[in-house]
Amino acid sequence: MIKNDLFLKALNGETVERPPVWMMRQAGRYLPEFRALRDKYDFFTRCRTPELAAEITVQPIRIVKPDAAILFSDILVIPQAMGIDVEMKENVGPWLPNPIRSAEDVNNVIVPEIHETLGYVMDAIKLTKEELNNEVPLIGFAGSPWTIFCYAVEGKGSKSFDTAKGFCFSQPEAAHKLLQKITDTTIAYLLEKVKAGCNAIQIFDSWGGMLSPVDYQEFSWPYINQIVEALAPHTKVIVFGKGCWFALHEMGKSKASALGVDWTCSPRNARYLSGGQVTLQGNFDPSRLLSPPATIRKMVHQMIDEFGKDRYIVNLGHGILPHIPVDHAKAFIDAVKSYNS
Ligand code: CP3
Repeated sequence: MIKNDLFLKALNGETVERPPVWMMRQAGRYLPEFRALRDKYDFFTRCRTPELAAEITVQPIRIVKPDAAILFSDILVIPQAMGIDVEMKENVGPWLPNPIRSAEDVNNVIVPEIHETLGYVMDAIKLTKEELNNEVPLIGFAGSPWTIFCYAVEGKGSKSFDTAKGFCFSQPEAAHKLLQKITDTTIAYLLEKVKAGCNAIQIFDSWGGMLSPVDYQEFSWPYINQIVEALAPHTKVIVFGKGCWFALHEMGKSKASALGVDWTCSPRNARYLSGGQVTLQGNFDPSRLLSPPATIRKMVHQMIDEFGKDRYIVNLGHGILPHIPVDHAKAFIDAVKSYNS
């Protein structure tokens, strides 16, 4: 049994004394302890070495003390396992030297055997579970098929992902074939993550908001929903779609246990759009952690009042920024712990 089960209770829709809190990208560059390891080992070495991944995962648990851990890894280990090269370049971010641009490229993409290609992630999960000693639950994650597709086709980060969108609109058949291959790989991968010990799964649709509501229903949501359907019998699934408030209604009808929202959607709107029953997660503006701690505390209490303390998981509206002072991240988490209704 997990000692602090607030996060799991909120996913179950149970009444809680206060909502649970964690931060997207909580294992990251705002922590000096993380930067020390980053200076020694390159990005994918950190992902592939279970001892390093486990250590980075528990760092925020010791330092800022959220109610859940999220495994240190990256969404881009999936395209790597599918035979698409991915590098992480200093000050650039993800770099894919051979992006997918044709139907033939899509045919060459493999749906891999998970243990052969991603066994190191399962080893990292097992080791992390030992280190966590049942203190808090462990979240596993994957990118949405659309978000992985964006990197696989664009070849790098982008403000608009128009090459990826252009591929969908000019070669829809090939695009759907690639999205399905990514979906099949992701389902097999996440089922293994649950078997290895993850207590819940989050799907990051970081670039879903690049699509129009109509295109979202063709190129992103059906693939996310396949994952939700496959995983729901085994674990709780959180779907976070950045900029995807327009899809909350559809998402609210699915088997997802919680929906993430970013800071551009008000709590009231998010409750209304999602149908009022599903647990919501979010949505503090990550830049707001630059406010003084007293302001952070006040705004967090206000945010909880607006979402309501039940069926709610406090989080940021996107990942924590690298230049946030650790004290401010602590103030965010402590504000939730000091909340009483
Ligand atoms: O939340 C956590 O702390 C767990 C670890 C985690 C990382 N990436 C580690 C990471 C998670 C959940 C991710 C998910 C991820 N990766 C997403 C979805 C979430 C989001 O932010 O939208 C995306 C789009 C990626 C792809 C990716 N990885 C980018 C665009 C970058 C470079 C930009 C950046 O933020 O630095 C990465 C690198 C990356 N992944 C870092 C970390 C801690 C920083 C680089 C480093 O460690 O040297």
